[in-house]
Amino acid sequence: MASFHQRVFSGMQPTSTLHLGNYLGALTNWVAMQETHECIYCVVDMHAITMWQDPADLKRAIREVTAAYVAAGIDTKKSIIFNQSQVSGHAELAWITNCVVRLGWMNRMTQFKEKAGKDKENASLGLYAYPSLMAADILLYKATHVPVGEDQKQHLELTRDTAQKFNNDFAAQIAGLELGTGDLGFFPLPEPMTQGPAPRVMSLRDGTKKMSKSDASDNSRINLTDDAETIATKIRKAKTDPDALPSEEKGLEGRAEAENLVGIYAGLNGQTKTQVLAEFGGSQFSGFKAALVDLAVAKLSPIAGEMRRLLDDVSHIDAILGRGAERAEAIAAPIMRDVKDIVGFVRRG
Ligand code: TRP
Repeated sequence: MASFHQRVFSGMQPTSTLHLGNYLGALTNWVAMQETHECIYCVVDMHAITMWQDPADLKRAIREVTAAYVAAGIDTKKSIIFNQSQVSGHAELAWITNCVVRLGWMNRMTQFKEKAGKDKENASLGLYAYPSLMAADILLYKATHVPVGEDQKQHLELTRDTAQKFNNDFAAQIAGLELGTGDLGFFPLPEPMTQGPAPRVMSLRDGTKKMSKSDASDNSRINLTDDAETIATKIRKAKTDPDALPSEEKGLEGRAEAENLVGIYAGLNGQTKTQVLAEFGGSQFSGFKAALVDLAVAKLSPIAGEMRRLLDDVSHIDAILGRGAERAEAIAAPIMRDVKDIVGFVRRG
């Protein structure tokens, strides 16, 4: 039975500095996947402009996210890193997915409703079409696996529906191509990959809210660019409760802040919460926080340092993106050519 080559695609928006939640929730997982899959990691600048971005800030953020990918351990020899706008196939395929996706599907997208807020009339058409562009990102490479967080699951479902409808609508043309994918169709239906054992990283000021770049308080998050002193201060100021740490995970129930700090420790140290509590059960927060400061500084400040070093040489970062875009383009071009044939466009030679 024919099958698709296993390929991972994922992306992050260059809308502001990445934080610990992006690192533990996504990047560490992306790094690990390089051992088992062919991986394409995109900086989705076209998605970013679905909301207003200051152009100078956008350029800086694209380079900063690129530096974060590299500093976190994505190896440009193994994996492809590039920014979306450099490969024109994203925009081209997005037009075709726009014509496959149904308005009824789009109207169910909960993230659009959240992002557009009350004044929907004033949201951009791009923000509405965002999930269709995301489908195009993934399908342009026939990616089979997509690591995404909970908030993107619905968009990945829409990607699968888009692939399925394209495969059905054009089944006759696809059959004529002799692709060697047998009865699987032209586009694979991409599988979501959930983020492994990594805990959800919550705000340091409120353990019931996700750590977020949009939180007004910078003390609520640890940015990947924070230096050692800033990391230490933020952890020391993190909200806790008056009790000692429990020795088993059950004891974290109803203690959102305690659970978050234990989860962060576990994530940074490649352990489970149970293992962390076996060591720190009975400790007061003062002692546990001191250990967490040491661990967080040891793991994160080299990343911040490497990011600063990379960002000092913009031409080097831009060369990484340019080389990545060429490699991405090489995969995308023949797929895009087939898509144009399938839908019935007439191509130049
Ligand atoms: N929408 C994703 C986010 O905001 C980013 C993204 C764009 C993406 N295209 C993608 C993620 C394709 C995975 C695959 O997090």
